[in-house]
Amino acid sequence: MTILKTGQLIKNVEGRKEKDQYVMRLISIDDLREVVALEKHVYDLLPNKQVLFMDSYEEMLDDMRNGAKIIGVYNKSKDLIAYRYLGFPGNSPNNLGNDINMPEGELSKVAHLETTIVLPEYRGNSLQSLTLQLAIPLVKDLGYGHLLCTVSPQNIYSLYNIMKNGLRVRALKKKYGTSPDGSDGIWRFILHRDLTPKAARRTSELLSVPIVDIEPQRQLIDKGFIGLWLSRESKMLNYVRFEDSLVY
Ligand SMILES: CC(C)(COP(=O)(O)OP(=O)(O)OC[C@H]1O[C@@H](n2cnc3c(N)ncnc32)[C@H](O)[C@@H]1OP(=O)(O)O)[C@@H](O)C(=O)NCCC(=O)NCCS
Repeated sequence: MTILKTGQLIKNVEGRKEKDQYVMRLISIDDLREVVALEKHVYDLLPNKQVLFMDSYEEMLDDMRNGAKIIGVYNKSKDLIAYRYLGFPGNSPNNLGNDINMPEGELSKVAHLETTIVLPEYRGNSLQSLTLQLAIPLVKDLGYGHLLCTVSPQNIYSLYNIMKNGLRVRALKKKYGTSPDGSDGIWRFILHRDLTPKAARRTSELLSVPIVDIEPQRQLIDKGFIGLWLSRESKMLNYVRFEDSLVY
């Protein structure tokens, strides 16, 4: 069992703050039931179920057998309090690179940031960011070069953390639908970060849009704008257009 990181935590218990500790490590298939139980517990407590698309035990098991990784966060009492699930979609049609028109040759280098879950009493310790920062060298070592994920426009906490870590909004569309055209799906931003360092690029235009205003954002993205940063206070997403159009 390789320990990836350890540190201090603050646990919120009915308004009281208690000191705790965490250990982050990769989860084995044998621990998957605990992961799914935590996901269900957190989902049941969510006031807005739209923000989280649930993964089933069978889907995660299948995915882990095909190389998916889960970073688990355990407290001092060795209970699972959070996790980050990383998937490697390869040539699957579910590869989010397809949603941002990524060149075919790049699709095999895509790593997905799938679900992240933090128990309510442990929120505010930046565990979403910390596990993301741990995931980057991990996926790079495995030979992947792109991070992609989906985030609901109604999930300001997650969107803020993801964008803070350098992922940019590249598409806004309905996902996880079952109808042939996907129109029964739920709105999701598709975010991307190229893990290969690139030269700084000049931006030519800047526009701010409330994150919940779907249509204006879709129009901007169609015109080549990219969502670059989010103001958590005003809930405005700032879109820019780069002078060159190298990125995908
Ligand atoms: C999104 C999520 C993982 C973020 O957890 P986190 O890493 O602990 O969040 P942060 O440390 O960045 O929290 C920053 C602040 O926002 C607050 N916050 C975070 N998530 C919150 C939530 N869902 N509801 C209310 N407040 C929240 C924190 O309490 C903290 O407040 P503070 O600055 O006053 O201390 C967590 O909210 C969660 O598990 N949500 C449900 C599942 C989900 O939406 N996952 C993401 C999509 S897969």
